[in-house]
Parts: sequence; structure tokens; C-alpha cells
Amino acid sequence: MTKEATYRVLLRPTEVELRAPAGTQLRDLLFEQGVEFPCGGQGRCRGCRVRVLAGAVEVNAAQRERLSEEELKNGWRLACQCRLTDDVVIELRQWDAAILVDESAFAFEPRLGLGVAVDLGTTTLVAQLLDLTTGHVMAVRTALNAQARYGADVMSRVGYAADKDHLLALAQLIRRQIGSLIDQLIFASKARRSDIRDVVLVGNTVMHHLFCGLDVEPLSHYPFEPQEGGLKTFGANDLGWNLEPGATIRFLPCLGGFVGSDVLAGVLATRLAESQEMGALVDLGTNGEIVVGNSARLLCASTAAGPAFEGARISMGMRAATGAISQVTVEDHHLDFRVLGNAAPQGLCGSGLVDAVAAGLDLEVIQPSGRFANGRKEWTLVPPVVLTQSDIRELQLAKGAIAAGFHILLDRLGASAGDVRKLYLAGAFGNYISHSSAQRIGLINLPVDKVNAAGNTALLGAKLALFSLDGEEGSYNGLLHKIEHVPLKADAKFQDVFVEELAFPEPSHVPS
Ligand code: FES
Repeated sequence: MTKEATYRVLLRPTEVELRAPAGTQLRDLLFEQGVEFPCGGQGRCRGCRVRVLAGAVEVNAAQRERLSEEELKNGWRLACQCRLTDDVVIELRQWDAAILVDESAFAFEPRLGLGVAVDLGTTTLVAQLLDLTTGHVMAVRTALNAQARYGADVMSRVGYAADKDHLLALAQLIRRQIGSLIDQLIFASKARRSDIRDVVLVGNTVMHHLFCGLDVEPLSHYPFEPQEGGLKTFGANDLGWNLEPGATIRFLPCLGGFVGSDVLAGVLATRLAESQEMGALVDLGTNGEIVVGNSARLLCASTAAGPAFEGARISMGMRAATGAISQVTVEDHHLDFRVLGNAAPQGLCGSGLVDAVAAGLDLEVIQPSGRFANGRKEWTLVPPVVLTQSDIRELQLAKGAIAAGFHILLDRLGASAGDVRKLYLAGAFGNYISHSSAQRIGLINLPVDKVNAAGNTALLGAKLALFSLDGEEGSYNGLLHKIEHVPLKADAKFQDVFVEELAFPEPSHVPS
């Protein structure tokens, strides 16, 4: 038996070295490193451009269409279209683009020194070291949140942290982990530790409390309102971080309820508060967060969607990892699949689940009520992966919660879905989900050309906040007073709207 060839991938500027088998999709490798794929890897947006500094990387038709001859000659490739066929050195530059490229009133002044932006997620952490003079990202580090072993989702972590000793231990754990990520950023970039002036962290309300060591009891019961959700500022010594005593570490403030500073940062990144046109930002996760409005008024809310979008509580659900079906399409009444890591299918991740149900509706295997047609109990997509009735029910609960939240916020603004000019889908799931499938299942009640995968808006907003820490108009501080939190549970109509939104739309009701 011949041993499968593996190749070496060296990433710049992160200096991360990876090894992977021949034929591995670059997209699968780079996603783990925090690289985003704004059009979901369809080869349409150029957002995943990387520059090949050494080694050979194929050019296919999609790349010839999207990249000029000059760009191809200079080594630019679309990472979503390439497989590994050689040892390569790849430069990742996508993070630089969104900083300091602005002519509007929102422009950020370059500053002296270095800054660190951290997106503290329930599952993953991303930290970037920035040169505040140029906006250049000098290094990136990602990690799984070390607290996850004490509860995968926010509510189980709130339960664990009810004990004061546990709360302190969780705070110590995450502070140590982020301190060590900062050390790694300094090491990888060869930056001077003393040049780091500011660190900005964003995260959901529970992550905010667990980092700051604040009592999570108010988050464990109705009305789920944080009592200490404001801006928290620390010195390096408070956290045991090896930075200059003058460096300032800020955890940005929460917006209310379970809407944290990750959403505040998302509004900063998408500039919803600057546009007169109605826009929306939706972060799809176990806790779905929604912001709707314009420069006149912005409303935000969170809604418990359950873990279906993350592939959890689904009979053959799994995280977006090797073996997960991430895409399902219908060709001539047959199903086609994309499996992550080019492996045999083992289960469905969130985007695959949404696609599978959309395909089931198109093929009339699933009825608009969510029930299988013809008394079927389950549907074999491709052995051994099956979809069950309760899987469909979990997805209905998730999409119903988001769609109902969206509906209520629009109602309060006296608007309807037709008034929304742009919808930004934030976060990793928003990056990968098929917009037409999301529309087919009624998760999004808008034409697909109004939907944009916005990538990690929390991290982008944290970076932008590094350039505007003084509370001026257009900064996170200015935004804080413009965004109103709506507690959905207290809305008399929420339950009825939620029940209505559980059904899938009839084909004639899917917006074109
Ligand atoms: S072109 Fe690759 S993600 Fe859009």
C-alpha cells in the first residue's frame, strides 16, 4: 500500500505551519486559521484571495474569471478554489483590507503603537495583533475556548459558574489563555512587547461576565438582564498579562440581555447606524442575535435558537469538521454533496442541515408543515447519513426563533421585510450557509441579492474600536446610546409569531 503524500503549508504573516494530505481543499485548512470565505466558497466574491509566495497552486476557470492575468501572474489565488498539490508558502492579507480604507465620516485616524483585537467566542477565540499606524495585521492566533470543557453552550457555563469558586476559576482560565495568545502573537510577529498600547475584547454577555469575573446569576433566569454589562477596563497587572503597566485592556460593553459587545462591534463593522436605508445584522447561533434599523433608530434582540445551526441535537449532526456534509444541492432530482476534508460522509453540519431540508422541500419529501410526506419516518441522504423527523423539528425551532425575532423588531420599527435593503449574516455559520437554502426554509424572508455574508464582524468591529477609543461619534461609545435592546420574551406577540414562523414557506411565498 502506498503512503498518501502530504504537503507542507507555511502561512504568512502568522508563521503557522501545517501539513495536510494531497488534494485537501485550502478552504478547509485556512478556515481553521480564522480565514473567512465571504461568499461561502462559491468563487464569486474574491474575498478569500491569498498570495502564493512559493510552490504551485492550480488555477481553475472560476479564478480566471475573478482574477486578472496580472494578479494570477503575481501569485494571487482564490483559496476557496484550490487544492493542495505541492509544498506552499501562502500570504494571508484579507484582514488588512477593512481597516483605514475609509473616506466617510467614520474614518479612523492612524495611531502610534500596536493593538490587539480579541473576539472571545463561546467556542472559539481569535486574536489579531495590529500595527495601529498602518492597520496591517501582523499576526493572528485562533484557539478553542478553554472554558468549553465546563459547558459547550452559554447556559451550561452559566450553570457551572453559579458556584463562586467555579466563576473565579473560569475567569482565570480564559484570562491565562488570552494572555498566552498575546504572547504567541508577539513571538510570531517579533513585535516589541512594550509597543502594545491597547487590547480590545468583544464577546457575548456571558463571555463578558466570565472574563471579568462578574456574577452570572442575573443571566440564569428571566428577564436575563446583566446588572454589570458595561465597559470594563483592566491594567495588565490585574490580569497577570506580561504587557507594559500603561497598556489598557478594555472589554467593550454589552447591549442588553444576551446581546453582547460582539454585536455592538458588528454594528460598528457593518455601519448600520450610518445608513438612512433600513439594514439588519443577524448572527446565527445557539443564541441568535438580531439588529435592525438605520441611522434614525436601531433595535436589537437575542433569541434562543437552540443548537441546530451548529449541528448539535441533530441525530447525525456534527461540527463543521472532516466528514461533515456541508453542502447539499439538487441536480436532476438527485442529491449532490460536499463533504469537508474530501472524506467519506459521517454526518451533517449546520449548513448541510439547512441545505438538506431545503432540498427535501424542493423534492417534496418534506411538507411545509415540517412533516415527511407519505408517512416516511426518516430520509437517507447518503449512507450512513439520515435525516429524521426530530432533526427537522430542531431546525424549525431554530429558524422559527430567528424569523420571529426579526419579525417583531421590524414591527416595532413600523417596517416590513420589504423595507430592508441589506441583511448582513455574521459569524462562521453566516459565512457558510447557502442564502437560497436559508430563504427556502423561511429563515430569511428577503431576496438573496440583499443578503451578504459579513464574516467575523465581531473581530472587525473590535479592530475598528482600537482606532476610536475616546468615545467620539461613530465609535462604540457613540453607538451604545443609539441601539435599543428589546427583550423578546416580554413581547406579548412573540409566542404567536414564533408558532407561525415554525412552518416552512410554500414555494410561492419564497421571495424572488
Ligand atoms: S471567492 Fe472564495 S469565498 Fe468568495
